[in-house]
Amino acid sequence: MGPEERAAQEFDGVLARDARPSGRTQRFTLTAAPTALALLDGRSLDVWAYNGSVPGPTLRVRKGDRVRVEFHNRLPQPTTVHWHGVRLPNAMDGVPGVTQPPVPPGGDFVYEFVPKDAGTFWFHPHVRGSEQVERGLHGVLVVEDEAPLPFDEEVVWVLDDWRLDAQGAVDPAFNTRHDLAHDGRWGRDVTVNGRTNSRLFARPGARLRVRILNAANGRVFRLGLGGLPARLLAVDGAYTSRAVPADGFELAPGNRVDLDVSIPPDAAGRAYAVTDNFVARMPNTLAAVEVTGEPARPAARFAAPRARVPLWANGLSLPIRQTYRLDARAGGPFGIEWTFNGEAFRHDDPAAHEHHPTATLPLGRWSRLRFVNDSYRLHPIHLHGMFFRVIGRDGAFVDEPFLRDTALVHPRETMDIAVVPLDEGRWMMHCHILEHAEAGMMTLLDVVPPGSPSPGMHHP
Ligand code: C2O
Ligand code: CU
Repeated sequence: MGPEERAAQEFDGVLARDARPSGRTQRFTLTAAPTALALLDGRSLDVWAYNGSVPGPTLRVRKGDRVRVEFHNRLPQPTTVHWHGVRLPNAMDGVPGVTQPPVPPGGDFVYEFVPKDAGTFWFHPHVRGSEQVERGLHGVLVVEDEAPLPFDEEVVWVLDDWRLDAQGAVDPAFNTRHDLAHDGRWGRDVTVNGRTNSRLFARPGARLRVRILNAANGRVFRLGLGGLPARLLAVDGAYTSRAVPADGFELAPGNRVDLDVSIPPDAAGRAYAVTDNFVARMPNTLAAVEVTGEPARPAARFAAPRARVPLWANGLSLPIRQTYRLDARAGGPFGIEWTFNGEAFRHDDPAAHEHHPTATLPLGRWSRLRFVNDSYRLHPIHLHGMFFRVIGRDGAFVDEPFLRDTALVHPRETMDIAVVPLDEGRWMMHCHILEHAEAGMMTLLDVVPPGSPSPGMHHP
Protein backbone atom coordinates (compact mmCIF):
# COMPACT_ATOMS: atom_id res chain seq x y z
CA MET A 1 0.00 0.00 0.00
CA GLY A 2 1.34 3.44 -0.93
CA PRO A 3 1.40 6.38 1.49
CA GLU A 4 -1.66 8.00 -0.10
CA GLU A 5 -3.65 4.79 0.28
CA ARG A 6 -2.59 4.65 3.89
CA ALA A 7 -3.68 8.28 4.30
CA ALA A 8 -7.08 7.44 2.84
CA GLN A 9 -7.30 4.46 5.17
CA GLU A 10 -6.69 6.74 8.16
CA PHE A 11 -9.99 8.35 7.19
CA ASP A 12 -11.96 5.10 7.19
CA GLY A 13 -14.93 5.37 9.49
CA VAL A 14 -14.27 9.03 10.39
CA LEU A 15 -17.36 10.11 8.45
CA ALA A 16 -20.29 8.01 7.32
CA ARG A 17 -20.27 7.20 3.63
CA ASP A 18 -24.04 6.90 3.50
CA ALA A 19 -26.94 8.32 5.44
CA ARG A 20 -28.66 6.06 7.95
CA PRO A 21 -32.30 7.04 7.44
CA SER A 22 -34.38 7.14 10.62
CA GLY A 23 -37.58 6.82 8.60
CA ARG A 24 -38.84 10.18 9.89
CA THR A 25 -39.45 13.16 7.61
CA GLN A 26 -39.20 16.71 8.92
CA ARG A 27 -41.13 19.16 6.76
CA PHE A 28 -40.41 22.88 6.70
CA THR A 29 -41.65 25.81 4.68
CA LEU A 30 -39.11 28.52 4.02
CA THR A 31 -40.13 31.81 2.42
CA ALA A 32 -37.65 34.51 1.51
CA ALA A 33 -39.26 37.94 1.37
CA PRO A 34 -38.63 41.61 2.17
CA THR A 35 -39.90 42.70 5.56
CA ALA A 36 -39.29 45.25 8.30
CA LEU A 37 -37.98 44.06 11.67
CA ALA A 38 -36.88 45.51 14.98
CA LEU A 39 -33.15 44.84 14.92
CA LEU A 40 -29.88 46.13 16.34
CA ASP A 41 -30.95 48.26 19.34
CA GLY A 42 -34.61 47.86 18.46
CA ARG A 43 -35.06 50.25 15.58
CA SER A 44 -37.04 49.09 12.55
CA LEU A 45 -34.92 48.00 9.62
CA ASP A 46 -35.97 47.00 6.10
CA VAL A 47 -34.41 43.60 5.51
CA TRP A 48 -34.82 40.43 3.50
CA ALA A 49 -35.72 37.54 5.73
CA TYR A 50 -36.51 33.85 5.82
CA ASN A 51 -39.96 33.36 7.38
CA GLY A 52 -40.00 36.96 8.58
CA SER A 53 -37.06 36.82 10.98
CA VAL A 54 -33.36 37.68 11.03
CA PRO A 55 -31.63 35.37 11.67
CA GLY A 56 -34.04 33.04 9.94
CA PRO A 57 -35.66 30.14 11.77
CA THR A 58 -33.38 27.57 13.39
CA LEU A 59 -34.33 24.33 11.67
CA ARG A 60 -33.77 21.43 14.03
CA VAL A 61 -33.71 17.80 12.92
CA ARG A 62 -32.06 14.60 14.02
CA LYS A 63 -29.34 12.81 12.10
CA GLY A 64 -30.96 10.42 9.65
CA ASP A 65 -34.20 12.38 9.40
CA ARG A 66 -35.29 13.26 5.91
CA VAL A 67 -35.35 17.06 5.63
CA ARG A 68 -37.93 18.40 3.23
CA VAL A 69 -37.96 22.15 2.73
CA GLU A 70 -40.54 23.79 0.51
CA PHE A 71 -38.88 26.99 -0.48
CA HIS A 72 -40.70 30.04 -1.84
CA ASN A 73 -38.90 32.98 -3.36
CA ARG A 74 -40.80 36.20 -2.75
CA LEU A 75 -37.76 38.41 -3.30
CA PRO A 76 -37.35 40.84 -6.20
CA GLN A 77 -34.31 38.78 -7.31
CA PRO A 78 -33.64 35.17 -8.22
CA THR A 79 -32.13 33.14 -5.41
CA THR A 80 -31.26 29.62 -4.20
CA VAL A 81 -30.73 28.02 -0.79
CA HIS A 82 -27.33 26.51 -0.06
CA TRP A 83 -26.99 24.16 2.95
CA HIS A 84 -23.54 25.14 4.14
CA GLY A 85 -21.53 22.22 5.50
CA VAL A 86 -24.17 19.57 4.92
CA ARG A 87 -23.10 16.52 2.92
CA LEU A 88 -26.09 16.00 0.68
CA PRO A 89 -26.86 14.95 -2.91
CA ASN A 90 -25.18 17.37 -5.31
CA ALA A 91 -28.53 18.41 -6.84
CA MET A 92 -29.66 19.78 -3.44
CA ASP A 93 -26.60 22.01 -2.93
CA GLY A 94 -28.23 25.20 -4.18
CA VAL A 95 -25.53 26.44 -6.54
CA PRO A 96 -27.17 28.36 -9.42
CA GLY A 97 -26.23 27.25 -12.91
CA VAL A 98 -24.31 24.28 -11.52
CA THR A 99 -26.67 22.17 -9.39
CA GLN A 100 -29.97 23.92 -10.18
CA PRO A 101 -31.37 26.87 -12.10
CA PRO A 102 -31.87 29.93 -9.88
CA VAL A 103 -35.36 30.15 -8.36
CA PRO A 104 -36.98 33.19 -10.03
CA PRO A 105 -39.00 35.80 -8.10
CA GLY A 106 -42.34 34.15 -7.31
CA GLY A 107 -40.83 30.69 -7.91
CA ASP A 108 -40.54 27.68 -5.65
CA PHE A 109 -38.15 24.78 -5.12
CA VAL A 110 -38.19 21.72 -2.89
CA TYR A 111 -34.96 20.78 -1.14
CA GLU A 112 -34.83 17.27 0.21
CA PHE A 113 -31.96 15.37 1.79
CA VAL A 114 -31.00 13.10 4.69
CA PRO A 115 -28.10 14.56 6.71
CA LYS A 116 -25.25 12.11 7.22
CA ASP A 117 -23.59 14.13 9.97
CA ALA A 118 -24.82 15.72 13.17
CA GLY A 119 -23.72 19.28 13.82
CA THR A 120 -24.31 23.00 13.51
CA PHE A 121 -24.89 23.96 9.89
CA TRP A 122 -26.49 26.92 8.20
CA PHE A 123 -28.31 27.94 5.07
CA HIS A 124 -28.10 31.03 2.91
CA PRO A 125 -28.61 32.17 -0.69
CA HIS A 126 -26.01 31.39 -3.33
CA VAL A 127 -27.14 34.08 -5.77
CA ARG A 128 -25.73 37.57 -5.25
CA GLY A 129 -24.64 36.37 -1.83
CA SER A 130 -22.90 39.59 -0.89
CA GLU A 131 -26.23 41.40 -1.14
CA GLN A 132 -28.75 38.71 -0.15
CA VAL A 133 -26.91 37.40 2.92
CA GLU A 134 -26.10 40.95 4.02
CA ARG A 135 -29.76 41.95 3.79
CA GLY A 136 -30.59 39.25 6.32
CA LEU A 137 -31.01 35.91 4.58
CA HIS A 138 -29.40 33.24 6.72
CA GLY A 139 -30.47 30.67 9.26
CA VAL A 140 -29.07 27.81 11.31
CA LEU A 141 -29.71 24.15 10.66
CA VAL A 142 -29.07 22.02 13.74
CA VAL A 143 -28.68 18.34 13.09
CA GLU A 144 -28.84 16.65 16.47
CA ASP A 145 -27.14 13.41 17.33
CA GLU A 146 -29.27 10.31 17.40
CA ALA A 147 -29.08 10.69 21.19
CA PRO A 148 -28.67 14.43 21.93
CA LEU A 149 -26.23 15.31 24.72
CA PRO A 150 -27.94 16.20 28.03
CA PHE A 151 -26.80 19.82 28.33
CA ASP A 152 -28.76 21.93 30.80
CA GLU A 153 -29.36 24.44 28.10
CA GLU A 154 -28.55 25.06 24.48
CA VAL A 155 -28.34 28.40 22.72
CA VAL A 156 -27.64 29.51 19.18
CA TRP A 157 -25.70 32.72 18.56
CA VAL A 158 -25.58 34.09 15.05
CA LEU A 159 -22.85 36.73 14.79
CA ASP A 160 -23.24 39.40 12.14
CA ASP A 161 -22.40 42.98 11.41
CA TRP A 162 -24.37 45.71 9.69
CA ARG A 163 -23.38 48.66 7.59
CA LEU A 164 -26.07 51.31 7.62
CA ASP A 165 -26.29 54.42 5.48
CA ALA A 166 -26.88 57.98 6.75
CA GLN A 167 -30.64 57.31 6.96
CA GLY A 168 -30.08 54.22 9.09
CA ALA A 169 -31.05 51.76 6.34
CA VAL A 170 -28.98 48.78 5.19
CA ASP A 171 -26.45 50.55 2.98
CA PRO A 172 -27.53 49.66 -0.57
CA ALA A 173 -24.02 50.12 -2.00
CA PHE A 174 -22.90 46.50 -2.39
CA ASN A 175 -19.60 45.25 -3.80
CA THR A 176 -17.91 48.63 -3.54
CA ARG A 177 -14.39 49.07 -4.81
CA HIS A 178 -13.25 49.72 -1.28
CA ASP A 179 -14.77 46.48 0.02
CA LEU A 180 -13.37 44.51 -2.90
CA ALA A 181 -9.90 45.93 -2.37
CA HIS A 182 -10.11 44.99 1.32
CA ASP A 183 -11.65 42.13 3.28
CA GLY A 184 -15.20 42.61 2.02
CA ARG A 185 -17.97 44.53 3.69
CA TRP A 186 -17.44 45.16 7.40
CA GLY A 187 -20.23 46.99 9.20
CA ARG A 188 -19.82 49.00 12.34
CA ASP A 189 -22.78 47.47 14.19
CA VAL A 190 -22.03 44.00 15.48
CA THR A 191 -25.01 41.88 16.53
CA VAL A 192 -25.79 38.53 18.10
CA ASN A 193 -29.06 37.12 16.76
CA GLY A 194 -29.73 40.49 15.15
CA ARG A 195 -29.48 42.52 18.35
CA THR A 196 -26.78 44.55 20.03
CA ASN A 197 -26.18 44.20 23.79
CA SER A 198 -27.20 40.55 24.00
CA ARG A 199 -27.50 39.04 27.44
CA LEU A 200 -27.64 35.39 28.27
CA PHE A 201 -28.82 34.34 31.71
CA ALA A 202 -27.30 31.15 33.00
CA ARG A 203 -27.74 29.35 36.29
CA PRO A 204 -24.80 28.64 38.58
CA GLY A 205 -23.37 25.22 37.85
CA ALA A 206 -25.15 24.91 34.52
CA ARG A 207 -23.55 23.27 31.52
CA LEU A 208 -24.44 24.96 28.25
CA ARG A 209 -23.96 24.21 24.62
CA VAL A 210 -23.50 27.42 22.67
CA ARG A 211 -23.67 27.04 18.91
CA ILE A 212 -22.05 30.05 17.24
CA LEU A 213 -22.19 30.96 13.56
CA ASN A 214 -20.37 33.77 11.81
CA ALA A 215 -22.89 34.95 9.22
CA ALA A 216 -21.08 38.20 8.40
CA ASN A 217 -20.03 38.91 4.83
CA GLY A 218 -16.43 39.68 5.63
CA ARG A 219 -15.77 40.16 9.31
CA VAL A 220 -13.64 37.63 11.19
CA PHE A 221 -14.42 37.24 14.89
CA ARG A 222 -11.76 36.16 17.35
CA LEU A 223 -13.46 34.90 20.47
CA GLY A 224 -12.56 36.38 23.83
CA LEU A 225 -14.43 34.60 26.61
CA GLY A 226 -13.57 36.84 29.54
CA GLY A 227 -12.88 33.96 31.89
CA LEU A 228 -15.96 31.94 30.96
CA PRO A 229 -14.90 28.28 31.18
CA ALA A 230 -15.55 27.14 27.61
CA ARG A 231 -14.01 24.50 25.41
CA LEU A 232 -14.48 23.75 21.76
CA LEU A 233 -16.86 20.87 21.39
CA ALA A 234 -17.17 21.05 17.61
CA VAL A 235 -15.89 23.10 14.70
CA ASP A 236 -17.99 23.52 11.55
CA GLY A 237 -20.36 20.96 13.01
CA ALA A 238 -17.89 18.13 13.59
CA TYR A 239 -16.73 17.11 17.06
CA THR A 240 -13.11 17.75 17.99
CA SER A 241 -10.77 14.87 18.84
CA ARG A 242 -9.63 16.47 22.09
CA ALA A 243 -10.53 19.35 24.36
CA VAL A 244 -9.34 22.67 22.97
CA PRO A 245 -9.71 26.03 24.70
CA ALA A 246 -12.19 28.20 22.84
CA ASP A 247 -10.55 31.46 23.80
CA GLY A 248 -8.83 33.02 20.80
CA PHE A 249 -10.53 30.88 18.18
CA GLU A 250 -10.79 32.69 14.84
CA LEU A 251 -14.29 32.40 13.47
CA ALA A 252 -14.14 33.39 9.80
CA PRO A 253 -17.27 34.02 7.72
CA GLY A 254 -19.06 30.69 7.35
CA ASN A 255 -17.38 29.03 10.36
CA ARG A 256 -19.31 27.59 13.29
CA VAL A 257 -18.15 26.47 16.70
CA ASP A 258 -20.02 24.64 19.42
CA LEU A 259 -18.86 25.64 22.87
CA ASP A 260 -19.10 23.40 25.92
CA VAL A 261 -19.54 25.92 28.74
CA SER A 262 -19.46 25.01 32.42
CA ILE A 263 -20.69 27.81 34.69
CA PRO A 264 -18.92 27.45 38.05
CA PRO A 265 -21.35 26.52 40.84
CA ASP A 266 -20.16 29.48 42.92
CA ALA A 267 -20.49 32.06 40.14
CA ALA A 268 -23.88 33.48 41.13
CA GLY A 269 -23.92 37.22 40.48
CA ARG A 270 -20.99 37.08 38.08
CA ALA A 271 -21.12 38.38 34.53
CA TYR A 272 -18.77 37.29 31.77
CA ALA A 273 -18.18 39.48 28.74
CA VAL A 274 -17.87 37.55 25.50
CA THR A 275 -15.92 39.68 23.07
CA ASP A 276 -14.38 39.74 19.64
CA ASN A 277 -10.78 40.93 19.51
CA PHE A 278 -9.78 40.02 15.96
CA VAL A 279 -8.93 43.65 15.36
CA ALA A 280 -7.06 44.26 18.60
CA ARG A 281 -7.50 48.03 18.61
CA MET A 282 -11.23 47.76 17.91
CA PRO A 283 -12.68 45.05 20.16
CA ASN A 284 -16.41 44.35 20.14
CA THR A 285 -18.62 43.17 22.95
CA LEU A 286 -20.73 40.31 21.67
CA ALA A 287 -22.74 39.26 24.68
CA ALA A 288 -22.83 39.25 28.44
CA VAL A 289 -23.35 35.95 30.20
CA GLU A 290 -24.98 36.72 33.55
CA VAL A 291 -25.11 34.07 36.20
CA THR A 292 -28.32 34.19 38.16
CA GLY A 293 -31.07 32.06 39.65
CA GLU A 294 -31.19 28.75 41.41
CA PRO A 295 -28.16 26.50 41.01
CA ALA A 296 -28.59 23.95 38.26
CA ARG A 297 -29.00 20.43 39.60
CA PRO A 298 -25.56 18.85 39.24
CA ALA A 299 -26.75 16.52 36.52
CA ALA A 300 -25.01 17.43 33.32
CA ARG A 301 -21.81 15.53 34.06
CA PHE A 302 -21.04 13.64 30.93
CA ALA A 303 -17.92 13.27 28.89
CA ALA A 304 -17.87 15.40 25.77
CA PRO A 305 -17.95 13.17 22.70
CA ARG A 306 -14.65 13.01 20.86
CA ALA A 307 -14.29 12.33 17.17
CA ARG A 308 -11.53 10.40 15.53
CA VAL A 309 -9.67 12.90 13.38
CA PRO A 310 -6.88 11.72 11.09
CA LEU A 311 -3.49 13.22 11.85
CA TRP A 312 -1.96 12.70 8.42
CA ALA A 313 1.45 13.22 9.98
CA ASN A 314 3.29 12.79 6.68
CA GLY A 315 0.71 14.79 4.71
CA LEU A 316 3.13 17.54 3.77
CA SER A 317 5.45 15.03 2.13
CA LEU A 318 2.73 13.66 -0.15
CA PRO A 319 2.00 15.13 -3.58
CA ILE A 320 -0.16 18.23 -4.04
CA ARG A 321 -3.12 17.56 -6.30
CA GLN A 322 -3.70 21.22 -7.09
CA THR A 323 -2.14 24.50 -6.03
CA TYR A 324 -4.32 27.60 -6.01
CA ARG A 325 -2.79 31.05 -6.05
CA LEU A 326 -5.11 33.66 -4.60
CA ASP A 327 -4.91 37.20 -5.91
CA ALA A 328 -6.77 40.21 -7.25
CA ARG A 329 -6.45 42.22 -10.42
CA ALA A 330 -8.19 45.10 -12.15
CA GLY A 331 -11.18 44.19 -14.31
CA GLY A 332 -14.54 42.46 -14.14
CA PRO A 333 -17.97 43.97 -13.49
CA PHE A 334 -16.86 45.70 -10.25
CA GLY A 335 -13.48 47.01 -11.43
CA ILE A 336 -11.56 44.54 -9.24
CA GLU A 337 -11.74 40.81 -9.57
CA TRP A 338 -10.53 38.07 -7.26
CA THR A 339 -9.02 34.99 -8.81
CA PHE A 340 -7.90 31.43 -8.28
CA ASN A 341 -4.84 30.96 -10.47
CA GLY A 342 -5.67 34.08 -12.45
CA GLU A 343 -9.19 32.95 -13.30
CA ALA A 344 -12.31 34.78 -12.13
CA PHE A 345 -15.61 32.89 -11.94
CA ARG A 346 -18.21 34.36 -14.28
CA HIS A 347 -21.50 34.26 -12.41
CA ASP A 348 -23.58 35.40 -15.34
CA ASP A 349 -22.15 32.99 -17.91
CA PRO A 350 -23.52 29.48 -17.33
CA ALA A 351 -21.56 28.23 -20.33
CA ALA A 352 -18.38 29.04 -18.45
CA HIS A 353 -19.33 26.57 -15.72
CA GLU A 354 -19.05 23.65 -18.10
CA HIS A 355 -15.33 23.99 -18.45
CA HIS A 356 -14.65 25.53 -15.10
CA PRO A 357 -13.76 22.66 -12.73
CA THR A 358 -10.15 23.29 -11.77
CA ALA A 359 -9.50 19.98 -10.06
CA THR A 360 -10.77 16.45 -10.06
CA LEU A 361 -10.73 14.73 -6.69
CA PRO A 362 -11.11 10.97 -6.79
CA LEU A 363 -13.97 9.77 -4.60
CA GLY A 364 -12.75 8.08 -1.40
CA ARG A 365 -9.10 8.88 -2.12
CA TRP A 366 -6.78 11.25 -0.31
CA SER A 367 -6.07 14.62 -1.91
CA ARG A 368 -3.93 17.51 -0.85
CA LEU A 369 -4.71 21.04 -1.98
CA ARG A 370 -2.49 24.03 -1.46
CA PHE A 371 -3.56 27.67 -1.27
CA VAL A 372 -0.93 30.33 -1.76
CA ASN A 373 -2.18 33.76 -0.78
CA ASP A 374 -0.38 36.22 -3.01
CA SER A 375 -2.46 39.05 -1.58
CA TYR A 376 -2.49 40.97 1.69
CA ARG A 377 -6.17 40.17 2.28
CA LEU A 378 -8.04 37.47 4.19
CA HIS A 379 -9.53 34.50 2.36
CA PRO A 380 -11.68 32.00 4.28
CA ILE A 381 -11.75 29.11 1.82
CA HIS A 382 -14.93 27.02 1.85
CA LEU A 383 -15.44 23.69 0.11
CA HIS A 384 -18.95 22.45 -0.51
CA GLY A 385 -19.82 18.80 0.01
CA MET A 386 -16.83 17.69 2.09
CA PHE A 387 -14.89 18.20 5.29
CA PHE A 388 -11.14 18.66 5.22
CA ARG A 389 -8.30 19.05 7.69
CA VAL A 390 -5.77 21.87 7.65
CA ILE A 391 -2.41 20.09 7.63
CA GLY A 392 0.00 22.94 6.99
CA ARG A 393 0.53 26.65 7.29
CA ASP A 394 3.52 28.25 5.63
CA GLY A 395 5.01 24.82 5.11
CA ALA A 396 4.87 23.81 8.79
CA PHE A 397 2.74 20.86 9.84
CA VAL A 398 -0.44 21.81 11.70
CA ASP A 399 -2.23 19.49 14.11
CA GLU A 400 -5.75 20.91 14.27
CA PRO A 401 -7.79 18.32 16.18
CA PHE A 402 -10.89 18.80 14.04
CA LEU A 403 -12.20 18.80 10.52
CA ARG A 404 -13.59 21.92 8.92
CA ASP A 405 -15.47 23.10 5.87
CA THR A 406 -14.06 26.65 5.95
CA ALA A 407 -10.50 27.70 6.82
CA LEU A 408 -9.01 31.15 6.90
CA VAL A 409 -5.93 31.85 4.79
CA HIS A 410 -4.19 34.85 6.30
CA PRO A 411 -2.40 37.56 4.30
CA ARG A 412 0.55 36.17 2.32
CA GLU A 413 0.10 32.76 3.95
CA THR A 414 0.30 29.34 2.35
CA MET A 415 -2.20 26.77 3.64
CA ASP A 416 -2.30 23.05 2.90
CA ILE A 417 -5.43 20.99 3.40
CA ALA A 418 -6.12 17.28 3.05
CA VAL A 419 -9.47 15.82 2.10
CA VAL A 420 -11.05 12.47 1.38
CA PRO A 421 -14.27 13.34 -0.43
CA LEU A 422 -17.05 10.81 0.08
CA ASP A 423 -19.77 12.45 -1.98
CA GLU A 424 -19.78 12.48 -5.76
CA GLY A 425 -20.61 15.61 -7.67
CA ARG A 426 -19.55 19.00 -8.89
CA TRP A 427 -18.86 20.98 -5.74
CA MET A 428 -18.13 24.62 -5.38
CA MET A 429 -15.09 26.02 -3.66
CA HIS A 430 -14.88 29.72 -2.88
CA CYS A 431 -13.75 32.45 -0.58
CA HIS A 432 -16.46 33.05 2.02
CA ILE A 433 -15.79 36.77 2.07
CA LEU A 434 -18.87 37.20 -0.05
CA GLU A 435 -17.58 40.25 -1.92
CA HIS A 436 -14.48 38.31 -2.97
CA ALA A 437 -16.68 35.42 -4.10
CA GLU A 438 -18.96 37.78 -5.99
CA ALA A 439 -15.93 39.29 -7.69
CA GLY A 440 -14.74 35.93 -8.98
CA MET A 441 -13.05 33.99 -6.17
CA MET A 442 -14.99 30.81 -6.85
CA THR A 443 -14.28 27.62 -8.67
CA LEU A 444 -15.58 24.08 -8.99
CA LEU A 445 -14.18 20.72 -7.93
CA ASP A 446 -15.33 17.49 -9.52
CA VAL A 447 -15.50 14.50 -7.21
CA VAL A 448 -15.65 11.40 -9.38
CA PRO A 449 -15.06 7.68 -8.85
CA PRO A 450 -11.34 6.96 -9.25
CA GLY A 451 -10.34 6.38 -12.85
CA SER A 452 -13.37 8.02 -14.45
CA PRO A 453 -12.80 11.14 -16.53
CA SER A 454 -14.06 14.40 -15.11
CA PRO A 455 -17.01 15.70 -17.11
CA GLY A 456 -15.91 18.88 -18.81
CA MET A 457 -12.44 19.04 -17.26
CA HIS A 458 -10.66 22.04 -18.62
CA HIS A 459 -7.01 21.87 -19.63
CA PRO A 460 -5.90 25.37 -20.46
CU1 C2O B 1 -21.68 29.27 2.89
CU2 C2O B 1 -20.86 28.40 -0.98
O1 C2O B 1 -21.27 28.86 0.95
CU1 CU C 1 -11.25 36.26 -0.13
